[in-house]
Amino acid sequence: MGYKHILIPIDGSEVSFKAVERAIDLAKQYNAKITILYVIPKGGEFIDLFNLKSVRQAFEEEAHKYFEKARNITKAQNISAGFRLAEGKPWEKIIETVKNLHCDLIVMGSHGRGRIEKFLIGSCTKRVLSEAPCPVLVVKE
Ligand SMILES: Nc1ncnc2c1ncn2[C@@H]1O[C@H](COP(=O)(O)OP(=O)(O)O)[C@@H](O)[C@H]1O
Ligand SMILES: [Mg+2]
Repeated sequence: MGYKHILIPIDGSEVSFKAVERAIDLAKQYNAKITILYVIPKGGEFIDLFNLKSVRQAFEEEAHKYFEKARNITKAQNISAGFRLAEGKPWEKIIETVKNLHCDLIVMGSHGRGRIEKFLIGSCTKRVLSEAPCPVLVVKE
């Protein structure tokens, strides 16, 4: 028993990069593949803003920065990773990706960039925990 394909959703927060490091340990141990996913948050109050080309471009530039940082971490550990960019509600896209790619483990952060101290766990993580078809490892700060 082990893991074959680990999904790591990142949002640019420190704890999400900590999740990348944790997932690399597991990938080495189980000889698993890893896929790193960033979801451009789209929907709700952002929907109109997205019609502005400059807003989309800013998000895409952010995404590439996050991927570059994650790639530096994987490279330093001699691990190759797949990268995926999606658009939509982060939790929905995380679940969709895990199903499409048949991932058998999700490693993610307890919090994100929008951290609000009083909550024990971030809203995206909370939703992924309740909807995921596979185990979820929540890395804490
Ligand atoms: N847009 C996103 N794309 C990919 N993963 C995300 C995204 N937003 C959050 N995550 C994942 O969920 C974790 C917790 O974030 P979240 O639940 O959004 O906390 P918060 O409510 O503090 O922003 C992050 O560390 C990251 O692993
Ligand atoms: Mg968030």
